[in-house]
Amino acid sequence: MSDGLENVVAAETVLSDVDGKAGRLIIRGRSLDDLAQGTTFEQVTRLLWDGFFDALPADLTPALAQARAEVFAEVSALDTGLLDRSPIEAMRALTARLADGDDLQVALRLTAAPAVFTAAVVRAQAGLAPIAPEPGLRHAADILRMLRGQAAPENEVQALDTYLVTVSDHGLNASTFAARVVASTHAGLTSAILAGICALKGPLHGGAPGPVIEMLDGIGKPENAQDWIEDALARGDRLMGFGHRVYRVRDPRADALKGAVRRMGTGSLPGRLDFAEAVETAALSILKTHKPNRPLDTNVEFYTALLLESLAFPPSAFTCVFAMGRVAGWVAHAREQVAGGRLIRPASIYVGPIPRAAA
Ligand code: CMC
Repeated sequence: MSDGLENVVAAETVLSDVDGKAGRLIIRGRSLDDLAQGTTFEQVTRLLWDGFFDALPADLTPALAQARAEVFAEVSALDTGLLDRSPIEAMRALTARLADGDDLQVALRLTAAPAVFTAAVVRAQAGLAPIAPEPGLRHAADILRMLRGQAAPENEVQALDTYLVTVSDHGLNASTFAARVVASTHAGLTSAILAGICALKGPLHGGAPGPVIEMLDGIGKPENAQDWIEDALARGDRLMGFGHRVYRVRDPRADALKGAVRRMGTGSLPGRLDFAEAVETAALSILKTHKPNRPLDTNVEFYTALLLESLAFPPSAFTCVFAMGRVAGWVAHAREQVAGGRLIRPASIYVGPIPRAAA
């Protein structure tokens, strides 16, 4: 038995490859370093979905814009009960209202859903009315506009595109596996994507970047980093944004996102990147002593937190933004599973009591 299915191969995929020793990520034959230089979310989605849908348009921009408009009609279901929940719970509930199915229209609506619903939920929680999508914009630009109520500058749109592309797919991570398990029962794409959202929500997976901001705010200034981190580890806490199941070296996504933050700037928080780098340096040095036999390096979530904070997303919605990017990969994996895979049904070893023979 392999605890946590570590090193168990559960699928063959053409979608992405994570090399944990070399610290390299390939998405459909392209390296992350290459994709992170100016690819749009629509382009990486097209790349991931190629061959998994009939009549896939060469440019997904208009079709995805149309899907945002369709999904926006569901925002009216956002009631006060849902507004008391976290953004990811509210976004998940609205997504669950979408019809199941397996065709391209369903896939596009599911891809639009985290973006449209999260923007509406964040605004409603701040007492603001939702903003309808704008058909002429690309996805990243419209996300920022629906969130803020005004057009975002191009350097910020580019930074969000880099983020969405960087997190669009990543091997058989927990949420992608969950989506594939559900897809393997032929339940439909909406069911598979909901499974992905549920798995992503946990702090060991996509829920980490919000707590990264709590850590940075708790530390406050570089000279506090060492004591704060040592105290956290002494309490048995894990440092959010560090460690990974597959990477034994630095997660390549960390540098792609750090580069995007550097190009964009940290907006209303000058010096934030230098501060984060100081905390990262302290954390890496302390983790080396704390776990000498387990390489623990920076993962994607550390600089995700800085990038999304700089784009003025509230930390409570960071996991929703992760879902906005990863949904492209979930859809592709669900389609790949249905096309070539069998029902996923592993075995377990029973270690409970054995009933006595009937008298
Ligand atoms: N801080 C302190 N100790 C850690 C950390 C950390 N961030 N990560 C792992 N460890 C320790 C852990 O306590 C364990 O020690 P011991 O053997 O004494 O119990 C040892 O390292 C091995 O940990 P593990 O739980 O067996 O490792 P895993 O492969 O199951 O965990 C992980 C991977 C990402 C869940 C873990 O590193 C972690 O909890 N990190 C913090 C949360 C985080 O940043 N999550 C985002 C992951 S990246 C996004 C994604 O791709 O999903």
